[in-house]
Amino acid sequence: MALGDTDHVLDYPIPSPAALEPPAEWARLRQGCPVAHVRLPSGDAATLLTRYDDVKHVLSDPRFTRDLNAPDAARIAANESGGVFNSGLGRALREEHHQQWRRMVGKWFTAKRMTALRPGIEAMAERLVDGMVASGAPADLKAALGFPLPVWVICDMLGVPESDRDKFAYWSNTLLSLTRYTQAEIDAAQAEFADYMGAHIAATRQDPGDDLISELIAAAAGAGGVMPDEALLATAQGLLVAGHETTANMIGKMVGMLLADRARWEALLADPSLVRTAVEEALRADANPGFGIPRYITEDAEVGGTVIPRGTTVVCNLAAANRDEDAFARADELDLARTPNTHLAFGAGAHSCLGQSLARTELQAVLDVLLRRLPTLELAVPAAELERVDGLVVGGLRALPVRW
Ligand code: HEM
Repeated sequence: MALGDTDHVLDYPIPSPAALEPPAEWARLRQGCPVAHVRLPSGDAATLLTRYDDVKHVLSDPRFTRDLNAPDAARIAANESGGVFNSGLGRALREEHHQQWRRMVGKWFTAKRMTALRPGIEAMAERLVDGMVASGAPADLKAALGFPLPVWVICDMLGVPESDRDKFAYWSNTLLSLTRYTQAEIDAAQAEFADYMGAHIAATRQDPGDDLISELIAAAAGAGGVMPDEALLATAQGLLVAGHETTANMIGKMVGMLLADRARWEALLADPSLVRTAVEEALRADANPGFGIPRYITEDAEVGGTVIPRGTTVVCNLAAANRDEDAFARADELDLARTPNTHLAFGAGAHSCLGQSLARTELQAVLDVLLRRLPTLELAVPAAELERVDGLVVGGLRALPVRW
């Protein structure tokens, strides 16, 4: 099979007509052109994958690397850095140190720890809901609950005191935003963050606690070494970049999907034991998770019967894969009890989401608290009027107007 139709190069990302629904092209590509030529926002060419099996294969195959700085790799965005894919987390997790880093940090995300964190996360959600209720309806649930919660959780994880959470929220926004802040503001925020973390790391070395930074310091000491400050700073920055905006937007999209058809909300009120599977289904059905996962190959590789030449940048569209009828029965339907649900929202393979147990805990906690505290919750605008942000990194809703 040839590599798609080169005369007809699609622009990617493909715009979607609805906030919570996928563009119709995804289904057409899955069926007719699962290995497609696309043009990225930078103007560079890439290959787009939309089928579940192909996406899973590529993410699990180490020949498909994250080396998007290779000279002939496609640039994602027009700005010279290639956007966030080549910065922050990318630099912090260079391939040669990646597996070691991942093993150490991954030790923190145990099931036992998630169970222990759950009441604290619910208490944070309660507090944010209190604030939203105090300001009165209608409210923007994304701003009132979705955005603050994950950054509070990351602060806790890093052992940062409650009084500094607002600073972290600001730094996180500037680190991630490609457009909202000037370069001078971004540089200043990066420097402030580095100074703050430097002092925080020094204080943690003196007086360790139960946080991730303390644990990494102790693990290195246990192995007869010292965890360098730079590695701890990169870890903190990486977790903020990877764990804040993703989860914040997912909270908004999940609640939006559940309220868009209020029968779904009613079903959860009637049977709150569905919360766990409902969270997985919202992750699967999320039609706007962002750009997708880019990878780069240095040798020819076959995917779904097509040979992809070396030097190609491949974009794995997780959301299109998650709606593949060959992998999920009634893939376009939201089934709150769907099980098993082996979606790819957290990626797959050696780089799959390290924080997925934490993300799940946060999403489940939010839903439990909202169902308990605001059973009458509903959208304050028709679902068709919800607006999406087609973020280059993470997609989401501009706002989630609700009342109760
Ligand atoms: C709903 C929320 C989230 C979604 C949808 C999500 C999704 C993803 C995806 C798709 C990847 C794979 C990237 C790739 O293969 O290149 C990833 C990686 C990662 N995620 Fe998440 N994530 C979420 C929340 C979190 C949270 C809360 C944390 C931690 C606080 C986190 C930490 C990470 C890290 C550290 C990586 C890189 C892992 C590696 O390179 O080995 N994520 N995430």
